[in-house]
Amino acid sequence: MLLLFALLAGAGAAAFLLFKFATADGDFTLLSCGRARRDKVDGKVVWITGASRGIGEVLSMQFASLGAKLILSARNKEELERVKRNIISKHPDSKVEVLPMDLSSDEESLKEVVHSAESLFSSAGIDYMMHNAAFERPEKGGPGRN
Ligand SMILES: NC(=O)c1ccc[n+]([C@@H]2O[C@H](COP(=O)([O-])OP(=O)(O)OC[C@H]3O[C@@H](n4cnc5c(N)ncnc54)[C@H](OP(=O)(O)O)[C@@H]3O)[C@@H](O)[C@H]2O)c1
Repeated sequence: MLLLFALLAGAGAAAFLLFKFATADGDFTLLSCGRARRDKVDGKVVWITGASRGIGEVLSMQFASLGAKLILSARNKEELERVKRNIISKHPDSKVEVLPMDLSSDEESLKEVVHSAESLFSSAGIDYMMHNAAFERPEKGGPGRN
């Protein structure tokens, strides 16, 4: 009887660990981080590049739900405004700024964008940067490439 109980407990623990592993996308590092904590993010300025769609859009919504002040960047301003509207409709107290940028632009332009980002939210600077944008290079052999 005791053996049966031990076997059932072991199987239950194994099933629980398997479930946790699967819901962390099979990522041990992610698993060890635990749940996202609001106290780490609430009121912090988070700059997310590639925020106009895909993973960046989902990240933006997640950070807004944890109380972050957001700077959303990508090239397409209209799409960034759509993401901003969506966030505010779900989290009306959110503070969200849209800062269009093109990662493939020259160094001076990028420096200007960085200065703009730092001066948003009463020059509070940037607490976290989620550099998620995909920089699409031309095809090999395409214009400007060998
Ligand atoms: N999805 C996956 O399975 C996967 C797997 C491995 C790695 N990743 C990486 O994870 C990141 C996000 O993936 P995703 O699937 O969410 O990509 P996605 O849907 O294609 O989104 C890419 C984002 O990057 C922005 N972007 C592209 N070129 C840019 C540029 N030159 N300057 C500024 N922003 C630019 C896009 O907006 P605009 O077009 O408006 O600029 C968009 O917001 C990417 O870096 C990708 O390489 C994704």
